[in-house]
Amino acid sequence: MKILAIETSCDETAAAVIGVENGQPIILSNTVSSQIDLHAKTGGIVPEVAARAHIEAMTPVIREALTGAKLEIEDITHLAVTAGPGLVGSLLVGFNTAKTLAYALEIPIIPINHIEGHVYSALALNQVKSPACQQARQKSKVKSGEPKFPILALTVSGGHTSLTLMKDHGVYENIGQTLDDAAGEAFDKVAKLLDLGYPGGPAISKIAEQHRSVIARRQTTKQSIEEKDCHALLAMTAEKELQFPRPMIGSGDFNFSFSGLKTAVLNYIRSNENYNKSEVAYAFEEAAVDVLCTKTMLAMRKFGPKAVILAGGVAANKRLREELSARLETANCQLLLPPLELCGDNAAMIGVVAYYHILKNDTKNWNDLTLDSNVKL
Ligand code: KG4
Ligand code: ZN
Repeated sequence: MKILAIETSCDETAAAVIGVENGQPIILSNTVSSQIDLHAKTGGIVPEVAARAHIEAMTPVIREALTGAKLEIEDITHLAVTAGPGLVGSLLVGFNTAKTLAYALEIPIIPINHIEGHVYSALALNQVKSPACQQARQKSKVKSGEPKFPILALTVSGGHTSLTLMKDHGVYENIGQTLDDAAGEAFDKVAKLLDLGYPGGPAISKIAEQHRSVIARRQTTKQSIEEKDCHALLAMTAEKELQFPRPMIGSGDFNFSFSGLKTAVLNYIRSNENYNKSEVAYAFEEAAVDVLCTKTMLAMRKFGPKAVILAGGVAANKRLREELSARLETANCQLLLPPLELCGDNAAMIGVVAYYHILKNDTKNWNDLTLDSNVKL
C-alpha cells in the first residue's frame, strides 16, 4: 500500500506519501508549501488568492512528495484527499487534482475530513514511524501500538475549536464546539489588534513569553524582599496583573466562546493608550489557555477517556501544551500530542486517516465522491 495524500483546505498546499511497515502506517514523505508570506501582506487569507496559489504549487508539491518517498506516480496504490471542511476554492484544487490522478491511474480514492486528519496527527505519534514522531513519543513516554478508546480530542485550529469523543477508529461524538470564533482565529484577531502580523498565534506566543519572564523576575525580587521582611518595599513592588475574562468557563457544558475575549482585549487597548503589548498578549494567552484546559478537564472527568488528544494549529502553542499536560498529569490521564511539524495543516495526517479507512474497505471511485466545505466530524 502506497497512499498519496493531498491537503489544500486553507493556506498550505501539502502532499505526503504513506506506506505500511509491520502493519503500521509510516510517513515516507511530507511536503508542505506555505502561503504565509502571501497572506502576511494582506494581514489575513484572501480566499481567491489562496486558491490561485494552490494551483501554482500543487504539481511541484506532489512531485517533491514522490521524490522524497523515492517513488514514481505509478507506484501509488491509493489517493487520499481532504474533502472538507475548509475554504471551498482551496479545497477544490486538491480535490480535483486527486480525482484526476485517481482516474488516470485507475486507483481508489478516499475523501477525508480535515478535522479527523488533525485528530490522527496525535495518534500518528503513537503509530507512525518517523524520526519526528519517535522523538515526540520518547518525550511524552507514549508506548507504541494500537491506541485505547475512548479518546477525548481537543481540536484547536484557525477554523475550528471542538471537543470530540472518539469511541473507535472513525467513530466520533461531538460533545462541544465554539459558538463563535475559533481559538486560532482569536489569536489571529488579537495579533492584528496588537499589530503583530499574520499568522497571529506564534507572534502572540512569542511576546507573551517575554512578559512571563518579567513576571518570573518580579516574583524573585518579591521573594528576596519578603525574606528581608521589608513591608514598605513589598507594598511598592506589588503590581496588579492584567486579567481578561474567561468566557463560558463556568457554563457547565463543553462549548466555547472566544469573540468576547477578543472584544475585552479591544476595549482594554482602546482605553489604555500606553498599554504594554507583551502584557496584553500574555493576559490573552492565559485566558484562552485557561478556558481550553478547564473545559477539557471537565469533559475528561465526565467521560473518563483512556487518553486526551490535543491537535490542530493552536496545539503548537507552548503554554497550552504545558498547561494541559500538567493538569492531565495531576489527574493521571495520558496526553497525546502531535509533533510540532504535524500540528499545522499537512497531508501526512490525511494519509494516516486514509490508511484506517482502507483497512475497512471504505474507499471510493473518482466519480463517486463529493466535497462539502462545511462537513462536520
Ligand atoms: O490547523 P491550522 O494550521 O489551520 C486550520 O485548519 O485552521 O491552524 C492555524 C491556526 C492559526 O490561527 C494560527 O495562528 C494558529 O493555528 N497557531 C497558533 C500557534 N501556531 C499556530 N496559535 C497559538 N500559538 C501558536 N504557537
Ligand atoms: Zn487545520
